[in-house]
Amino acid sequence: MTLLLETPVPAAVDDLTLRRSAARVLFTNWTGGSTVPSRGLYPHQWSWDSAFIAIGLRHLSVRRAQRELETLVGAQWADGRIPHIVFNPAVPLDAYFPSPDFWRSSRDGAAVGAPAGIETSGIVQPPVHALAAWLVHQADPEASHRRGFLPRMYGHLAAWHDYLTGPRNLGGRGLAAMVHPWEPGMDNSPCWDGPLQRVEPAAAGSYRRADLDHGQPAERPTDLDYGRYVRLATDYRDSGYADKGSRHAFAVEDPCVNALLIVSEHALARIAAETGADPAPHEHRATRLTEALVERLWSPDDGMFLCRDLVGGGLLAERSVAGLLPLIVPGLPQDLVDALIRTATGPGFRLGAIPMVPSYDITRPAFDPSRYWRGPAWFNTNWLLERGLRQYGQVRAADRLRTSILAAAGACDFAEYVDPFTAQARGTRDFGWTAALTLDLLAAAPSAGNTSRTTDPSSGERT
Ligand code: SER
Repeated sequence: MTLLLETPVPAAVDDLTLRRSAARVLFTNWTGGSTVPSRGLYPHQWSWDSAFIAIGLRHLSVRRAQRELETLVGAQWADGRIPHIVFNPAVPLDAYFPSPDFWRSSRDGAAVGAPAGIETSGIVQPPVHALAAWLVHQADPEASHRRGFLPRMYGHLAAWHDYLTGPRNLGGRGLAAMVHPWEPGMDNSPCWDGPLQRVEPAAAGSYRRADLDHGQPAERPTDLDYGRYVRLATDYRDSGYADKGSRHAFAVEDPCVNALLIVSEHALARIAAETGADPAPHEHRATRLTEALVERLWSPDDGMFLCRDLVGGGLLAERSVAGLLPLIVPGLPQDLVDALIRTATGPGFRLGAIPMVPSYDITRPAFDPSRYWRGPAWFNTNWLLERGLRQYGQVRAADRLRTSILAAAGACDFAEYVDPFTAQARGTRDFGWTAALTLDLLAAAPSAGNTSRTTDPSSGERT
């Protein structure tokens, strides 16, 4: 399948200037042991942000990239979960909501193994970490060996995947279920509109949103959504952060989360082999998860993956970019790959025709080009798509998307997200993963029509 593509957005700055500016963002957001996504809006360590940030940071300082991931897994719970936020005790409580005194992890999560000496949230985020650890290792294998980086990460990452495929296997087929809209990372995706209708919002006066101190209300989730987020988090906390056996008002299987789990499981097999452990169980699990992903979440009518609602039952009809991201999974049947590429380039997502791929189908009524995960284009999802396209031999399309992502990043002050049609900045600026993934794309020279440049799917690295 060959793609017809229009001219990408012209670059506003040269690569060297872009690299320097991206590095400045990561240096500014570094706190000594990890990197904040943003100094104002997100002043702590976030789980999937840290993984994406490590992937970029490895091009500036392998040592810091290792440290980023080590700090995160240092807050892992004994049940294997890696919390979505690790709180910095030096940051005032009112700087971010929900704050540590809301989650009360060390007390209310103690029964399932929350650490005593550090405060975290009790929910999780998508498992990008084993992929990130492998890429950080590959940036300087000698330094990695010297510091025993992979042997120190392996047990944490294996326990993390065991958690996701064990206690979080709520649907019974091995896929990881997410029990809060913050967990798949795409907080206010229209995918959650239906499931959230079952959730009674927390009373408006019972909490104060800190995000609106930093963000435009029209670019952030609504108060109604927030009320429901708070209710779900409160209920989960009050259950002692119990998974199986608990009654979840919200539980979904998300294609992006599970695609990342599969790619990370392949990376874990590589990590296992490097550390002298047996890679086979990880390869087997990756294969089983890929089968389950296709069986449970593929929609032939949509030509993409959808989310499964484990409470209401059935697939959710909403079409988010999450449903295209399994393109990063190696070994998908060719007819699914062709369908995904057709959907990505079709009227809903317009890959190659507009600067960046939106987070939600443009043709659907819920699409909003400015509001967080309801339409804006994000840099992590576009970076993942670029890898997926490259993996499946769509080298020219991948090169075009890379050029377009870099042009957008250079023109938007490393915005958190952008309008997908104009690439104008939305959300906060100097955003960690935008800068990091810019560095990663800059480090991979364009193939200039060389169709032999591909991605080795099992390593997740360019060859
Ligand atoms: N993304 C959420 C926020 O906006 C939480 O992870 O704070």
